[in-house]
Amino acid sequence: MNAASPNKPVAYQEGVQDFYGRDFIVTPDVLIPRPETEQLIDTVLNLAGKPYLTGIKPSPRVLPENPVILDVGTGSGCIAITLKLELKETKVYASDISPEALKIAQKNALKHGAPITTIISHLLEKVKSGDISTPDIIVANLPYVDKNWDWLDKKSLSYEPSIALYAEDHGLALIKKLIDEAAELKIPYLILEADPCQHEAIIKYAKYYNLSRTDGYILSFIYRYTHQA
Ligand SMILES: C[S@@+](CC[C@H](N)C(=O)[O-])C[C@H]1O[C@@H](n2cnc3c(N)ncnc32)[C@H](O)[C@@H]1O
Repeated sequence: MNAASPNKPVAYQEGVQDFYGRDFIVTPDVLIPRPETEQLIDTVLNLAGKPYLTGIKPSPRVLPENPVILDVGTGSGCIAITLKLELKETKVYASDISPEALKIAQKNALKHGAPITTIISHLLEKVKSGDISTPDIIVANLPYVDKNWDWLDKKSLSYEPSIALYAEDHGLALIKKLIDEAAELKIPYLILEADPCQHEAIIKYAKYYNLSRTDGYILSFIYRYTHQA
């Protein structure tokens, strides 16, 4: 336990972090939600034709009405819960490989009165097995930090779970695997967070997906062979 450490992030000391205007419970079992991830919410609301925080006029809806959403690597549940609260009629699944993280996501769902379905899963294994119905849209802020980046503040990151931060292959291993699995399942929309320095490599890798836009850290992909009405 490091309760007395002066470097412990304030969010862990206070046990809460604001995300998209709401307080989320956080413990050292989950990543502290970051402001750059809020743009992922704006991106999905934009696709759903809804107004969003930054006040930009919404675009016409491209997602089906009441889409099934899967948040892969949900951690505190901040993305899944926010989307459920903003898009009330949607079915939202929240998955994570970490049972400890899912417990926090469940607490947050209860706190915010957001009925989401949580499930332990390594990437899309539970979609492939049929435990989760095939989503219309997958959102994911997976671990993408490369341990070798020389700008990392390793001291402050050391309080957060390694499983939530780091990935092999220059930080891209899990993102690439998710892209492969999503393409195999022909998931129509894939919204990913990654460091902007990784975007070019990800766009190149996602050969079955067309990039529809980038917003800060967020990449939006549409499956190439999805029929657009
Ligand atoms: C960067 S954190 C994101 C947490 C939260 N979605 C957010 O945006 O604050 C990544 C999450 O992915 C989970 N994770 C790591 N490897 C995974 C895998 N193979 N399959 C599913 N989830 C995984 C971690 O446990 C962690 O909760």
